[in-house]
Amino acid sequence: MNNLTRILLLFIIPLFYNSCKKETVPGDENLSLTKNSEKHRPQFHFTPPEMWMNDPNGMVYLNGEYHLFYQHYPDSTIWGPMHWGHAVSKHLLEWEHLPIALYPDSLGYIFSGSAVFDERNTSGLGSKENPPLVAIYTYHNVKGEKAGEIDYQTQGIAYSVDSGRNWEKYQDNPVLDNPGIKDFRDPKVFWHDETSKWVMILAVDDHVEMFGSKNLKSWYKLSEFGKTAGAHGGVWECPDLFPLPVDDKDLQKWVMLLSINPGGLYGGSATQYFVGDFDGETFKNDNPDQTLWLDYGKDNYAGVTWSNIPESDGRRIFMGWMSNWQYAQAVPTIAWRSAMTLPRSLHLKTTNDGIRLVSLPVKEINGIRNETHDLQEQKITGKIEVTDMSFEVTTSEMIFEFELTENASEFGVELFNGLGQSISVGFNASRNSFYVDRTNSGNHNFSEDFGGIHYAPRISRGNTIKMHLFFDVASVELFADDGTAVITDIFFPDELYKGVRLFSNMGTVKLKSGKITELNSIGLNSLTDK
Ligand code: FRU
Repeated sequence: MNNLTRILLLFIIPLFYNSCKKETVPGDENLSLTKNSEKHRPQFHFTPPEMWMNDPNGMVYLNGEYHLFYQHYPDSTIWGPMHWGHAVSKHLLEWEHLPIALYPDSLGYIFSGSAVFDERNTSGLGSKENPPLVAIYTYHNVKGEKAGEIDYQTQGIAYSVDSGRNWEKYQDNPVLDNPGIKDFRDPKVFWHDETSKWVMILAVDDHVEMFGSKNLKSWYKLSEFGKTAGAHGGVWECPDLFPLPVDDKDLQKWVMLLSINPGGLYGGSATQYFVGDFDGETFKNDNPDQTLWLDYGKDNYAGVTWSNIPESDGRRIFMGWMSNWQYAQAVPTIAWRSAMTLPRSLHLKTTNDGIRLVSLPVKEINGIRNETHDLQEQKITGKIEVTDMSFEVTTSEMIFEFELTENASEFGVELFNGLGQSISVGFNASRNSFYVDRTNSGNHNFSEDFGGIHYAPRISRGNTIKMHLFFDVASVELFADDGTAVITDIFFPDELYKGVRLFSNMGTVKLKSGKITELNSIGLNSLTDK
């Protein structure tokens, strides 16, 4: 982009932004969205105040604050020179936006990475009394890339001794040189207590590599994993590696998250995972013949987990980027692009298919719950509109339990608007799968890859089909059967969805219980103590 275009964009985009904020979208007049009321702006998901965002980065908890950094280009709503945007939250839902934490420098753009609390000051970048936060990220050297070199991705570090407010880059960057491999990025670092060292897991082309360090500044290779495991339809990116108890008991397994683009189940970007053991050096995969997906929707990518969450809390909390590289830069939003998923706690559960990763919305959601509408037990044939509610379902949580009767074939819930557009979430009995159908969900002429139905196989047994859903203006997240089947999808209706109906296509299904709860907007800048 030349300077003139950049200057024009700098002036034009805020103008658009301000006019959009005030704009009343036809048909939306009655919606009580007091903040962030631009068309398609999510109300309780994290979004950047303006401009481009992709992966979540550097997620670390410290002194009562969850830090969230993110891939950010502050000059445009399309991807460009990467910075780390920054926000903090006390309760994972309401975020305070802070100034950009890391700017590109002579070594390159600041690509994805992680952050750790260096409690023992092993790096020497803080002091014993005031240990540092250390961010470990990838430098992407565009000059090198343009010159046709292949070793243009290296790893660098930066540190903060004031709770993440100000960041200094380490003077001897990079701390890990490129060995001559084009895709060499997205370091996730953690402390491995049993072997008393830092471990870095790095995405390297079609596999991951593990490195060790005593001080975060000098790294040596430990092992490789993955050349023959899992899906390989694209480049591996954004890995994570962490232990979790199985069924909340004594047995512990290690989980590796691994994003892949392209090559996702439904095209484009998606995240797979592996379950196994890690001894501080090597990862051993328990299911070498299986590919496991974290989420069966198209819009949960590059997600990783927070570090340094206190043991007294004990959760492993995940957040992903709610988009897909197939169309992320073309989605119809004007002032900003993309949102993060809801924060989710991850668990390992023994199922009929083996040990599987389960995602659940964090309990902090409780802080934004508003009015609730209970549905009576009832039989559903065809479509039944829910009409007697005192609030709109544009931002809502829904919990349903259906009884699977013999002649029920496809049933679920649908949000719709006055233009005949709808988003359907349901269960298909013959496929034994949950699904989200966004074929008729609104505007998708920005990409051929957008429409479609995304199925998540059911792994639970029994006759009770459970759906736990979150709708937020332009997204749905389904946590079915206690988080054992998850689908995250975005959509762009031309008018807000305000209507809701239950349906049973062919056959009758019994709704055993249903609850619809209005969810509050988190605002753009508010940080409250709820
Ligand atoms: C994943 C990714 C990362 C990279 C970053 C660049 O979405 O491609 O591999 O570090 O985005 O913005």
